[in-house]
Amino acid sequence: MRGGVIGLWGSIIVLVAFAVGGLGRAAAEDTFKIGLIVPMTGRQASTGREISAAFKVYMQQHGVTVAGKRISIIVRDDGAVPDATKRLAQELIVHDKVNVIAGFGTTPSAYAVAPLLTEAKVPGVVMGAGASDVTSRSPFMLRTGFTMAQSSVVMADWAAQNAIKTVVTIVSDYAPGIDAQNSFTSRFIGAGGKVLDEIRVPLTSVDFSPFLQQAREGAPDAAFIFVPSGQVMFMNQFVERGLDRAGIKIIGPGDITDDDQLPAMRDQVIGTVTAHMYSAAHPSALNREYVAAFERDNDFRPNFMSVAGYDGMHLIYEALRQAGGNATGDTLVEIMRNAKWESPRGPISIDPRTRDIVQNIYLRRVERQGGGLYNVEFATFEAVKDPVTEIK
Ligand code: PHB
Repeated sequence: MRGGVIGLWGSIIVLVAFAVGGLGRAAAEDTFKIGLIVPMTGRQASTGREISAAFKVYMQQHGVTVAGKRISIIVRDDGAVPDATKRLAQELIVHDKVNVIAGFGTTPSAYAVAPLLTEAKVPGVVMGAGASDVTSRSPFMLRTGFTMAQSSVVMADWAAQNAIKTVVTIVSDYAPGIDAQNSFTSRFIGAGGKVLDEIRVPLTSVDFSPFLQQAREGAPDAAFIFVPSGQVMFMNQFVERGLDRAGIKIIGPGDITDDDQLPAMRDQVIGTVTAHMYSAAHPSALNREYVAAFERDNDFRPNFMSVAGYDGMHLIYEALRQAGGNATGDTLVEIMRNAKWESPRGPISIDPRTRDIVQNIYLRRVERQGGGLYNVEFATFEAVKDPVTEIK
């Protein structure tokens, strides 16, 4: 379960590790340590692969020294098992004395670590967990990723305005899936739509046929889908079971047409409309630069998890710079909670009250572009806050 620093990170980290090991205590005091806990193995391994690749791009572009401190990244693989996340976080805090913990590929992993962050006053930068209440679990948690509700309400508005009158929802049965389902349903019904069935499937499902059969029987105009552990399998089974030919459209948060997995999906996915905060095809100069830097080193494209990692690094670097190298958790969180900057995904900020991400949500349609399948954006909803915590 442990990912070695040197093996994973190549020359940059080798250099830092060498400097720390070779110069002893004084050098260790000049080091700023970031513990990165992500799934590098198991069903969520793409999250760890994307976020760690983004860290590397960020460090290549911005160097390994900030405010006189050498940045050291300690990577740990939790396999998306919350007990492992907790144990690894404990070790990173107590043994490695990390200044920040970053990553968190799933909501249960973020929940498991939140109390440790509070107790140790160590900032936690959440990149992959999407349940709305994540940052409320610790005053030391901030999020640079997304919430499921942010994109689900935008999706509901679009569906209601685009001749979709009836929907069946299918989500993985855990907090972010339930958030996606509830926020979609209440917004869609409020806009005059009808939800025929709300189906929850085990997170580890690989055979979706009974749920697809159930969905098909209702003959909805669309199926709203969030199944983060089995997206490619789900999309393929949807086609194999003939739901697309029955005229049922797939809609949902952009996780279902994830840039990391889109190249493995069939052409039937073309035309699928989703709502999300990042597309590798986002047409900005900053994003084109990011995608080019990312693809120079990797044989896969950056996805939404990667940009959450890249921006998380920016949040950490800027906080350390503004703190003048003073790395106490309280100081860093205070700076981070007021951050605002331009990301490859567009303008973003942290809401000082909730410590959660505020960002544009884009409607996108899958199209073939330059030989590959991409999510091509066609509408923008600006500065969207998490709709669940916004009204609390
Ligand atoms: C989560 O567990 O919060 C999660 C995981 C994968 C996603 C989105 C959310 O694509």
